[in-house]
Amino acid sequence: MALYSETVMDHFTHPRNVGVIEDADGVGQVGNAKCGDIMKIYLKIADDIITDVKFETFGCGSAIASSSMATQMIKGKPLAEAMALTNQAVAQALDGLPAHKLHCSVLAEEAIKAAVQDYYDRHGIAYDASQFPDCAHCHSHED
Ligand code: FES
Repeated sequence: MALYSETVMDHFTHPRNVGVIEDADGVGQVGNAKCGDIMKIYLKIADDIITDVKFETFGCGSAIASSSMATQMIKGKPLAEAMALTNQAVAQALDGLPAHKLHCSVLAEEAIKAAVQDYYDRHGIAYDASQFPDCAHCHSHED
């Protein structure tokens, strides 16, 4: 069996939703300290719906494929659904990732959560901090 599924290769070679949203409502950036890869997610939000999402990933192929798939999975969806997206769901949608590459999909889950948290922070919306990973060590919010 090939190391990577056709879906992973498709999203790696033709990533969806790549880019920047200049007037984003929320931006999340996370990094993996071990490999040094960085993922940045931009969200446009209206009435609790993610109307647009873009990403920039400076990282491995699995991280790029994970960002591409994850952005597709949350586009047009309510914030609550984006918050519920797990890295396992992203990996599953990619028809699997090799075990040693599963951590790459974690970046996607964390970057989305960081972007939602940034949206709440910017808009003074109260939230339960426990629903966000303790990423003080791994992500930085944009001003
Ligand atoms: Fe770093 Fe994949 S090896 S995110």
